[in-house]
Amino acid sequence: MKCYQVLYLKTCIFDNNFNNVLFLTTMEFILDKTKEINPFKEYDKVTWRSPSNIALIKYWGKKENQIPANPSLSFTLSESYTETCIVYQEKKEADKLSVQFMFEGEENLQFKQKIELFLNKITKYFPFLPKLHLAISSHNSFPHSAGIASSASSMSALALCLCSIEKKHFGTLISENEFFTKASYIARLGSGSASRSVFPYVASWGEIIENPISTDEYASVLPFEMHNNFKNFKDAVLIISKQVKKVSSTAGHGLMEGHPFAGQRFVLAKHNLKKLLLVLKSGNEDGFIEIVENEALTLHALMMSSNPGYILMHPNTVKAIEKIRDFRNKTGIKLCFTLDAGPNVHLLYSDNDCAEVEKFITDDLLQYCEDRFWIADRLGIGPVKIS
Ligand code: DP6
Repeated sequence: MKCYQVLYLKTCIFDNNFNNVLFLTTMEFILDKTKEINPFKEYDKVTWRSPSNIALIKYWGKKENQIPANPSLSFTLSESYTETCIVYQEKKEADKLSVQFMFEGEENLQFKQKIELFLNKITKYFPFLPKLHLAISSHNSFPHSAGIASSASSMSALALCLCSIEKKHFGTLISENEFFTKASYIARLGSGSASRSVFPYVASWGEIIENPISTDEYASVLPFEMHNNFKNFKDAVLIISKQVKKVSSTAGHGLMEGHPFAGQRFVLAKHNLKKLLLVLKSGNEDGFIEIVENEALTLHALMMSSNPGYILMHPNTVKAIEKIRDFRNKTGIKLCFTLDAGPNVHLLYSDNDCAEVEKFITDDLLQYCEDRFWIADRLGIGPVKIS
């Protein structure tokens, strides 16, 4: 008995020379099963640990329903993650969500409201939600006050938990591909960048001609194996400022509407992504540095030229960037920086250069970090289900 409905439409378009095939994919992961195969017990529990990611090609600007204005690509991290546990129980009335939310061991009303809003939005995909009482508890591996956005790790962890509940009680999402694709689809509805966090090492989100399985609706792994040069990459997250950002990413995306450079930006992002895919395949480290730093500075240039314009870099962000470029020129070590939508600097380098780079961090970069705080992260294997 197969009661899982997947609306799957695929249209195939060839370019003039029949060289490139463009797949347009629409997928809706609606569970239309009413009776569970494995009844909800008194209490049940599911826990997922899901990592954050750092975008190399930035998602900046979106359309209705969390559809990105341009494709993006990120490295999945390892040490910066959210662990979310849902204890759930069937309740008498099945007409309304019932949620309790604890963050870092304490009730958090602000986050609870955000989560309730999100769960209401996705009840269509998980129709069993109003039948349950959900006690959700969540904590991050990085300090709450580190100025690090946690929407990618937290929304992906939550989406994974919900997919696990569906799988356990309705016998759906059996294949890994189906499971992680639905998790990415749902995570995207919570926070765009979260769609990429469910995949190991490197993931892209958004339709691109170069990847026939790509779509705006969920992320996927690359259609080739990444070159060894990048597989052991580390990410030193230099916490320049722990303050909460003045302008959220969601507000920043909104300011791309009517932005004077929006059109060119979306074309440039596609172009940079196309070049980066070649670089990731060939192992060209100089090409990597050029594209990644250009994307970081372009992101902040877009913020500065928004209306109203704003600056999220801190004077120490610029000082750290200058030091990094000087160090690269002097030593020939192929390290580079990227930035998220904030003042913190992500320093990307190969594990082979770890000794020299970590000495450089301690000697020259920590002076720019608030309380000399930094996080030693690296590319990671993606989310893990905790038994
Ligand atoms: C600069 O995914 O946080 O980190 O979809 O509104 O939740 P929402 O935005 P969010 O934006 C991330 C912006 C970015 C670039 C990126 O991760 O691609």
